[in-house]
This record gives sequence, C-alpha cells and structure tokens, in this order.
Amino acid sequence: MDHLFLHHLLIASLLLSASSDFAPQYFLNCGGQSDITTDDSPSRVFVTDSEYLSSKADSLSLSNPSSSNLRPSIYSTARVFTGPVSYTFPLNSTGVHVIRLHFLPFSADARDLSAARFDVTVQLLHLLKNFSVASSATPVIKEYFLWVDSAASSALELNFLPVSPSFAFVNVVEVLTAPAYLFDSSTTSNLSNQTMETVYRINVGGTKVTPANDTMWRTWIPDDANISNSNTAFLNGTDISAIDYEKSDVTNVVAPKFVYSTARTMNIPDEMRTGNPDFNFNVTWKFRVETSYNYLVRAHFCDFISQSSITFVLYVADQSQEILSGDGTDHDFLVPFYKELTVEVRPPSVWINISIGRSLKTQPSDANAFLNGLEIFKFSNAIVNSGDTTNRRSTTVAAFASASAGGAVLLSLLVFGLILWARKRRHGSKSLSLLSNETSSPYRQGTARRGNFVDLSSNSTSAAPTASPRVNFDLSIPLLDIKAATNDFDESFVVGNGGFGKVYKGVLGDGTKVAVKRAMPGSNQGYPEFQAEILVLSKIRHRHLVSLIGYCEEQSERILVYEYMEKGPLRNYLYGGSDDKPSLSWKQRLEICIGAARGLHYLHTGYSDTIIHRDIKSTNILLDKINLAKVSDFGLSRLGPSMGETHVTTGVKGTFGYFDPEYFKTQQLTDKSDVYSFGVMLFEVLCARPVIDRSVSHEQINLAEWALDWQRRGQLEKIIDQRLVGKINRNSLRKFGETAERCLADYGVDRPPFADVLWNLEYALQLHVTELKREPHEDSGAVESRIDVPAMREVDAAGVVKETGEEENWSSRRMVTLDSSASAVFSQLVNSDGR
Ligand SMILES: *[C@@H]1O[C@H](CO)[C@@H](O)[C@H](O)[C@H]1NC(C)=O
Ligand SMILES: *[C@@H]1O[C@H](CO)[C@@H](O)[C@H](O)[C@H]1NC(C)=O
Ligand SMILES: *[C@@H]1O[C@H](CO)[C@@H](O)[C@H](O)[C@H]1NC(C)=O
Ligand SMILES: *[C@@H]1O[C@H](CO)[C@@H](O)[C@H](O)[C@H]1NC(C)=O
Ligand SMILES: *[C@@H]1O[C@H](CO)[C@@H](O)[C@H](O)[C@H]1NC(C)=O
Ligand SMILES: *[C@@H]1O[C@H](CO)[C@@H](O)[C@H](O)[C@H]1NC(C)=O
Ligand SMILES: *[C@@H]1O[C@H](CO)[C@@H](O)[C@H](O)[C@H]1NC(C)=O
Ligand SMILES: *[C@@H]1O[C@H](CO)[C@@H](O)[C@H](O)[C@H]1NC(C)=O
Ligand SMILES: *[C@@H]1O[C@H](CO)[C@@H](O)[C@H](O)[C@H]1NC(C)=O
Repeated sequence: MDHLFLHHLLIASLLLSASSDFAPQYFLNCGGQSDITTDDSPSRVFVTDSEYLSSKADSLSLSNPSSSNLRPSIYSTARVFTGPVSYTFPLNSTGVHVIRLHFLPFSADARDLSAARFDVTVQLLHLLKNFSVASSATPVIKEYFLWVDSAASSALELNFLPVSPSFAFVNVVEVLTAPAYLFDSSTTSNLSNQTMETVYRINVGGTKVTPANDTMWRTWIPDDANISNSNTAFLNGTDISAIDYEKSDVTNVVAPKFVYSTARTMNIPDEMRTGNPDFNFNVTWKFRVETSYNYLVRAHFCDFISQSSITFVLYVADQSQEILSGDGTDHDFLVPFYKELTVEVRPPSVWINISIGRSLKTQPSDANAFLNGLEIFKFSNAIVNSGDTTNRRSTTVAAFASASAGGAVLLSLLVFGLILWARKRRHGSKSLSLLSNETSSPYRQGTARRGNFVDLSSNSTSAAPTASPRVNFDLSIPLLDIKAATNDFDESFVVGNGGFGKVYKGVLGDGTKVAVKRAMPGSNQGYPEFQAEILVLSKIRHRHLVSLIGYCEEQSERILVYEYMEKGPLRNYLYGGSDDKPSLSWKQRLEICIGAARGLHYLHTGYSDTIIHRDIKSTNILLDKINLAKVSDFGLSRLGPSMGETHVTTGVKGTFGYFDPEYFKTQQLTDKSDVYSFGVMLFEVLCARPVIDRSVSHEQINLAEWALDWQRRGQLEKIIDQRLVGKINRNSLRKFGETAERCLADYGVDRPPFADVLWNLEYALQLHVTELKREPHEDSGAVESRIDVPAMREVDAAGVVKETGEEENWSSRRMVTLDSSASAVFSQLVNSDGR
C-alpha cells in the first residue's frame, strides 16, 4: 500500500515536470442572457447555456426578480426543465473530470424553485436522485468526479430529469478536466463505473478559502463545526509564502497554500510533558455521512511546527497510519503532502471520525501531531435503471450515446437493450429480420437436438462459469437474412479468408453493417471455437470488445455475425499492409493500446469469472472508422481459474511469437499469459515489425527478445518505427518501454495486471500530450489530425498470415472485422421501439 503510494507520488512528480495544469472546460450561466464573470475570479467567464441544451422545448430561463439588474450574478438566473433535457459538452480529453452544479432557489413567474424535484444523471449514473433544494441565502454546490473516456464518447451528457409532476432547475454548471495526478490509479480505476462526490472539504485551523483563492475554484470551509473537542488543539499558522511546492509531489491543484499554511496541533501543556511521560490523547473531528457507502478520505499535511522531525498517528474510522514528517527525506519541513484511506461506512454507523494523536515512539518533549486539511469523497454507483429509462426515453437515448465503458453501466445497458429487444419481438418491428421467431429458432431446435450447446455454459470441463447474471441471449439470425445481407455469399463481398472459412461484409435488413464469418460448410473444424465465441461474446459486451450481433446454425451452416470494423486489424497500420495506409501517430498508437488494454482488463475482471483471451496479437485488435480499438477473436478464450485455483491446465494454443514462455513450459494458463502477449504487441506497435521475422539476423528474429534487450540497455529509441523518430516524447517512450518490459517478465507473478498496464499507458499518453502542449512546434500536426482513411473495403486477410509467412497461426483460424458500435445498435433499438 505504502509502496504503491510512493510509486504514485513518484509518478505525480514526474508528471509535474511535464505540466501542472488542469483544463477548465465549461462554465455555464444557466438561464442567463449574457456571459458574465464573478467578482472573486475574473478569469472565469460563465457563458450562456442555450447552445449546450439538447432541447429548447422543455426548458425555460428564469430571472430572480429581486436581484439587482445592475450587477448580474450567476445566481440571479436559473434554467428550468419541465421535461427531460440534457446539456451536451464535447470533450477532448480522457481522464477524471469534475462536474459542479450550483443551486440557489428563488421564486419567479409564479414558480418556486424550492419546489423542484428531480434527478441528474451522467453516463447512466445518478448524480442526484429525487433531489430538491430548500430556500436559503447561500447556494448548494454539488461536486462530482467521474471518468470520461473521450476515445469512447466524444461528449459528456448531463441529463436533468424532473420527477413528475415537478420540474428541475440549475443555476450554474461547471465542467473541468482534472490533472492525471490528482488521484492515484486505484481511485481512477474505481471511477470507471462509479462517481465520486465531494462531501467535505475542510481547511483545518484556517478560514474559508473561496474559489478565487483556489486553482480549481474549490471552496474549503473551516473545521470549527466538526472538531469535537477544540480545547485539545491549538490553531497554528505560518507565512503563506513559506509553503514549498517545489520539493513536493503536491501542487496547488491538489490544495492551495491557504490550506497548507494553517493547521491544528496538539495542545500539550508543559506539565503534561514533564509530569506524565506516557500521556496520550487525540484531537478528533467528526463527520456525519450517509451509511452504506465507500468514502475516500484525504488528509493534507504540511509540517511547519516541528523542530527536527516528528512522528504521529492518523486515525480514520477504524484504521490508523503513522505519519512521519520533517525528516528531510520523505516529507520535508514546509513541504505539503497528503495521505489517503478508504473507509466503508456500514449501518448503523453514520460517522467518519478522524483523529490525530501521539506516536509512542516519540519522546514526551518532542511529541506532537498536526493536520492541515481534509477532504472526504463519497463513491456512488447508483445506476440508472430500466424503470427510469423507459419513463424518460428521450434522454436515455442521449445517455446511451455517451454510455461510459464501465462494466456495471454496460451491464445495465445490456439489460435495458434486452428489455427493449424483447418488447420489440412481441410487437414486431422493422428490424425483426435480426430476430428470429422464437418457436422456429434454429438455436432452440439445435439445443433440443444436441443438448451440448447449452451444456457448454453449465458444466464444460473446468471452464464452467459459476452462477452469474446469465443473460440469455437468443441471437440467432435466420440463414435467409444472412444470405440477403451478403447477396447470397457473393464473392465480391469477401473481406477475409482464413482457416475457419470466409468473412463477408454485409448489411442487415435494418441497415446495420456487419462482418459475417462463415465456417466452410460441412467442415467440423473449429466447432469448439464457434461455441466459445458465442459463449463469450453473448455474455459480455464492452466498448473495446468486438460485439457479436448474432449467429446462425442452420442447414449445416455455422455463421457468426459481428459489428463491422471499418479499418480492420491494427497490424495493417503498422507494417505489411498496403502502402496507402497512413502511419499512426504515437498518440494514436497509445490510444489504441489503451483501448485494447481496457477491453482486456474488462475481459479479465468485468465478468464473474476471468476470461483469458489466449490469442492477443495485432491482427486481433480491430479498428473502427475513428480508430477505436476493439479486441476480437474469442475462439480460443477460456474461462480462467476459479476461486482457489491458480491456473487452468490446457493444451497450448495461441500464436507463435506472442506465446507466454511460462505457459508454454508448464501448460498452465493464467490471465498473465495474456499480459505477456500484450507486451509483445506493445513492442510490435512501437517497432512496427513482425514479431517473428526470419529475414533478419539471428538475434533480431524474435521481436520480444530483441526489443527487451534494447530496453534493458536503455536504448529503445534506436529500434523504434522510423516514422516515429523524433516524434515521441522521451519520458513517454521510457514509460512505454518499462511497461512492455514488465509485461514480458519471465514469470506471470511478476507481470502487472491489466489495470496497471492501463494506468501506465495512460500515463505514457499523458506525458506525451502534455509535453506536446508545451512545445507545439514538435509534431503538432501529426498528433492533432485525425487520420482520414477511406473506409477499408478489404481486410487483407490473406496478407495476415500466408503472404508474409512470418507468423505461424497455431490455431489456423481467423476472423475479421466489424463496425457500428454497441451503443449505436442499442440506440437503433430504442428509436425503433419508440414509434
Ligand atoms: C477541443 O479541441 C479543439 C481543437 O483542438 C479546441 O478548439 C477545443 O476548444 C477543444 N475543446 C475543449 C472542450 O477542450
Ligand atoms: C421523493 O421525495 C419525496 C419527499 O421526500 C417523497 O415524498 C417521494 O416519495 C420521493 N419520491 C421517490 C420516487 O422516491
Ligand atoms: C477501489 O475499490 C476497491 C474495491 O472496491 C477498494 O478496495 C479500494 O480501496 C478502492 N480504492 C479507492 C482509492 O477508493
Ligand atoms: C484570497 O485572496 C485575497 C487576495 O489575494 C485575499 O485578500 C484574501 O484574504 C484571500 N482569502 C482567503 C480566504 O485566504
Ligand atoms: C461538520 O460541519 C458541517 C458543515 O459545517 C455540518 O453540516 C456538520 O453537521 C458538522 N458535523 C458535525 C459532527 O458537527
Ligand atoms: C485515538 O483514536 C483512536 C481511533 O478512534 C483510538 O483507537 C485510540 O484509542 C485513541 N487514543 C486515545 C489516547 O484516546
Ligand atoms: C501553536 O499555537 C500555540 C498557541 O498560539 C502556541 O503556543 C504554540 O507554540 C504554537 N505551536 C507552534 C509549533 O508554533
Ligand atoms: C464517532 O462519533 C460519533 C458522534 O460523536 C459517535 O456516536 C461514534 O460512536 C463515533 N465513532 C467511533 C468509532 O468512535
Ligand atoms: C466496478 O468495477 C470494479 C472493477 O473495475 C468491480 O470490482 C466493481 O465490482 C464494479 N462495481 C460495480 C458496482 O459494478
């Protein structure tokens, strides 16, 4: 834990050298007629909100009649929503974002805003539920942190949903991008399917800090209301200019100097020090919270009180941590730092009590403790459920378009999709071609006849999934529809050709572009892969995993239908593809690796059992038309070891050059085998050469060995893709190289999980882009421009294996491509359902 903390501090400090900035994005003066600034922070312009509104029909602006017309304030107007309406904020950056909502009710036009009652949701997560604001002189400001994946959705949708028969309102909306170092990777990954709300932000021992004095425009309130026995503590302060961020991993974006320059310290009378050497007591703060939630507590410290060094104890709920400061190494004198603890508040408790006290390691004469600031954040994963969504269809359609990649979110999306799907089946609709009639479903007939199809999911070998919300898809598509989609398997529709059979592109009756993978009729080859693919893909969906749209098992045909991925395999953009394909910039390559890692992370952790892909390689990462990466080809996937087991013993399958050597030797498969293959692929992306190349000198044949060698010598830049030379930030490359190296550790236990890989790649991206912002002349065009490739007509599948001859595909199977994302599919369903 502590090691991890230091690691992240290190990362934070590295990042600081690149940039300490965060990005303010949007400040809305909701319902206002003009752009205004506030007295306290003239740099912030609150702009009128109408251009961000999804619909003007259900919204109106209201002005407080009792506020002065001469000096408009951001609180003198409000936007009122009489139906579901959203604000849409285009965003460019992936990462943690801050949303702040301000509410100050007033009465105007016979409408009393304190009577409003409403929900606020974002990315299918509730920020506020059945919310109302009592009349008051001071605004209620709600602040949330959430993860936004700009690669996955280009806009943030903030939805206001009145609780009928009431209405909703808001006075001010703020959206900011938090700097990557603000939270560590554990918090950041927890934000993938949850939001975090700021519930307390306290300037201990100090006065209120207003937005004007805080880089991120936060408000810090004094601790007087929350300290439980104030005579146990002194109020102390130091000259604000003495605070030294220079030597710190903390910046003023983490907390301003106003917070670090005041503190409470223990009030230890001299008689106590001399007369009672074992003295001990706590200074305690108590915070009322909602029970049954997880909280992140961040305690801020800056030692301006000790003479040499000081050790004391921080207690947060039932946890404690020793704090060491002023010793000249870890936490130097006057240098800000913070500690974090996660607290689960279980019923009946509604308190988080935080204390500081003496460490008995200290001499009575030196003993002391201090605290400068506190922040308490509440994690929430209140997912918009289908009940909400069906009642408020129009906004949920918008919400779908921006659904986050979080697992739970996607599950709910999936369930909702199914509900609509099922309803549609009952009512019949235009895209019925996608859905076969229940009684004549070949899937069902097949099941009854063979039985083994369903059994696969309940008791197949060691791969049996355990009880889990098994969504029972009936994805079968009638052969007739598939023939119609591919012009009766027209040869000119073929986009790929492999051991399994041919891949056709096609268009379903409802206009969905698909890739149709057809097993060679009559052959039994690949039947287990066929089953595995349906099994895996019908259970899980993720923005970075290729979606299975359906399958067909009829008249000895075995066909899989996927979303169509316009650009095809990643490898064709690295090397060996046709020359007209533009090269990918370093930023694009990182984003693709991040997308793939995200998909694989989900594959490993998002479902109740670990699913191991077993065949990760650049030909199995497909790109859609905007270069969004999706993992494909689950034919070799296996459910990982169940609880208590460390591995699955299985015959070795995969692709030469990407093999985990440990798996090869022991035949024991773990999720870390995928990490190894991914590491090989990272070098492939960097060096743009085949993983096995027999045309080069002996020591270069195997990319993994060769690149590792250069990485260990610290000279990785010597072997990178020529097209990237001079266009990669040095630190970004170093981080990337280290990440790949760790993935390629000899033993699985030494390899990082995908969550770490993801964090490191995101960090490498951050290093690259922040550096670029500072030096715009360097590689500016290449990074910002989006590659404009005409839709790929041909997924040069023959080139994938046979033509190059560098790679032996051990499973002699392959599949190609798809596009039209899951959310697009679902929103089509939603749309057609609404008619
Ligand atoms: C997004 O990027 C474009 C161009 O790089 C820029 O003009 C725009 O202001 C950016 N938007 C945000 C919200 O940062
Ligand atoms: C919303 O809150 C009000 C008042 O607290 C309550 O009467 C009502 O039942 C709540 N509605 C829902 C849907 O929870
Ligand atoms: C993230 O979530 C995990 C599991 O819920 C928890 O153990 C961990 O403490 C959380 N981390 C933070 C920083 O909240
Ligand atoms: C904020 O800054 C202003 C100007 O620097 C200063 O006068 C004021 O006292 C500061 N407020 C707080 C709470 O420290
Ligand atoms: C802590 O302070 C907040 C805000 O001043 C207040 O609402 C809350 O009741 C206080 N908690 C306690 C335990 O006094
Ligand atoms: C200080 O608080 C912690 C946590 O509540 C408690 O375990 C400890 O006994 C307290 N110490 C004293 C001296 O009261
Ligand atoms: C903190 O404040 C108290 C009371 O003003 C004072 O006696 C004490 O010396 C101060 N401590 C430090 C370390 O400055
Ligand atoms: C925290 O403080 C509250 C309020 O005084 C008290 O009821 C509760 O028992 C305290 N919790 C612990 C663990 O001391
Ligand atoms: C959120 O995702 C984490 C893994 O990323 C998982 O452990 C957790 O259970 C998820 N939470 C919910 C509510 O789905």
